[in-house]
Amino acid sequence: MWQFRLWDVQDVALFLSMAIYICDLAGAISIHSAQRSLTRSVQEDVFFSVDVSCGGIPTIEWNFMSGVVSRTIGTWQPGVYTNITVDYSSRVQAYNNGSMGLSDLRLQDAGYYVITVTEATGSSKDSGFVLKVNEVLYEDLQYLSISVVALAAAAALLMLIMWLLDKVYRRIVAWRRRRRMPENNETELQPL
Ligand SMILES: *[C@@H]1O[C@H](CO)[C@@H](O)[C@H](O)[C@H]1NC(C)=O
Ligand SMILES: *[C@@H]1O[C@H](CO)[C@@H](O)[C@H](O)[C@H]1NC(C)=O
Repeated sequence: MWQFRLWDVQDVALFLSMAIYICDLAGAISIHSAQRSLTRSVQEDVFFSVDVSCGGIPTIEWNFMSGVVSRTIGTWQPGVYTNITVDYSSRVQAYNNGSMGLSDLRLQDAGYYVITVTEATGSSKDSGFVLKVNEVLYEDLQYLSISVVALAAAAALLMLIMWLLDKVYRRIVAWRRRRRMPENNETELQPL
């Protein structure tokens, strides 16, 4: 999260579009993607949707970069092989059109995801995505804990009211019994 703020999103977009422009001049590879800036919450999934086209079978490589780290996520050639780094093997899904799915997001996943497409001739092209990962909102947890406390208080109040009602009921019953007792005595005495 902190490293993410070191670079402005605009700067990154400018950098990427320049890189894309330079690569455009280089070859016939194309990488189409609708959305390059994504925001997800922790534990959610993200799908980096691209459609790669080039002459022959492309080699697709995804790299992750944030302020301090840079690592390879995986490399694949559609229909030939798929090589996902051990750290990501359980969370990454590779697609033939170059897309990549990443599941069970963590805060550390926030950063830049760069896809590099290489043709058999050796020419290559890059495209990048910015991923922002939000924490599960603290306010939500606070709201939840307040609700729990409020519910517990309501339950305690209800129990207190029931206990009081029970006491009042018992008193009324006892009082009635006491009132009826002398009457009974009188009626019992009458025949005598
Ligand atoms: C790439 O393929 C996946 C799965 O087949 C699909 O969901 C996605 O929309 C495709 N991306 C593009 C940009 O066509
Ligand atoms: C898969 O990638 C790792 C590291 O990126 C590399 O050492 C290994 O040789 C690759 N395996 C294949 C089959 O390409």
